[in-house]
Amino acid sequence: MKSIKLSNGVEIPKIMIGTYSIFGDEAKEVFKAAYDAGYRGIDCGRYYGNEKDWGDAVKALGISRKDIFIQTKVSHADEKKQEFDAIKDFETTLKNFSTDYIDCLLIHWPNMDTFEETWRALEKLYRDGKIRAIGVSNFRKEHFEILKQSAEITPMVNQIERHPCRKQPETYDYCKGKSVQLEAYQPIAVGRPELMHNPILVEIAQQHNCSVPQVALAWNMATGVIPLPRSRNAGRLKENYESVNIRLSDDEVEMITNDKTHYFCALREGSEYPGYWDTIHEVDVANYL
Ligand SMILES: NC(=O)c1ccc[n+]([C@@H]2O[C@H](COP(=O)([O-])OP(=O)(O)OC[C@H]3O[C@@H](n4cnc5c(N)ncnc54)[C@H](OP(=O)(O)O)[C@@H]3O)[C@@H](O)[C@H]2O)c1
Repeated sequence: MKSIKLSNGVEIPKIMIGTYSIFGDEAKEVFKAAYDAGYRGIDCGRYYGNEKDWGDAVKALGISRKDIFIQTKVSHADEKKQEFDAIKDFETTLKNFSTDYIDCLLIHWPNMDTFEETWRALEKLYRDGKIRAIGVSNFRKEHFEILKQSAEITPMVNQIERHPCRKQPETYDYCKGKSVQLEAYQPIAVGRPELMHNPILVEIAQQHNCSVPQVALAWNMATGVIPLPRSRNAGRLKENYESVNIRLSDDEVEMITNDKTHYFCALREGSEYPGYWDTIHEVDVANYL
């Protein structure tokens, strides 16, 4: 397994599969194809409603528990419930995956009312040995600054939207500086044309005799970020995994990093989860190119 060490020494795969909207038998088929292609990690979430499907998919393959890195997220939708108890809630996650530990648990979204309390629960589960690494998702510097006032453990991971058309340099620099491992969701920008036809990526892909999605994934890895591409197609799962072997030159990495002409945000903040961002700041996308 090609892996990276987190700040606590836990090894995490260099690339993992996204699982959003993949359920039931399809999860079994996708997981088998992904495992055959070389993936050893999955990114799930309670909010996706498919933890049990992926737990069953892992079980169906009959592999040893230690051969798969299971990452999932506390649901910000559940967090909104008044009596939400993250420790109790975690028992359901363990049941869904038929396991007694999770490799990495993240807070899905900075719910401003609850994330500090939820973090305390994650710290307890980590100390109790039920989670090997803990982290957050969709956090920016402002959220880390609030968290650090009460946290005893610094998040080991932050999962954000990141691809060549959206680089989030401020969050990137902040996390790098604090040894918080970044992960990239929507790393091929859900296949959007702004990425697929980006002239810089097209040219680099031609030079490496590979595809544009592979360049996008290789760029995330070259900049130290773990991409989480999703595909239902065995050929594309393999194609995406093989991006671990693509070595971009420093110039190519720079060229992609410095390109600011094709910005867009695949997931529009606040539109899906209103109220989570706006209490802390007005989102000014220009700051996050
Ligand atoms: N933390 C968060 O808030 C958050 C938010 C969004 C996503 N995520 C996580 O990140 C994962 C990835 O994000 P995503 O699934 O939204 O987007 P994505 O991985 O960027 O894109 C998935 C789409 O791209 C297509 N695709 C995949 N490989 C391709 C290739 N080589 N060539 C052409 N098209 C390709 C897939 O179609 P086919 O299936 O037909 O190949 C699918 O429609 C999610 O599954 C989830 O685990 C987290």
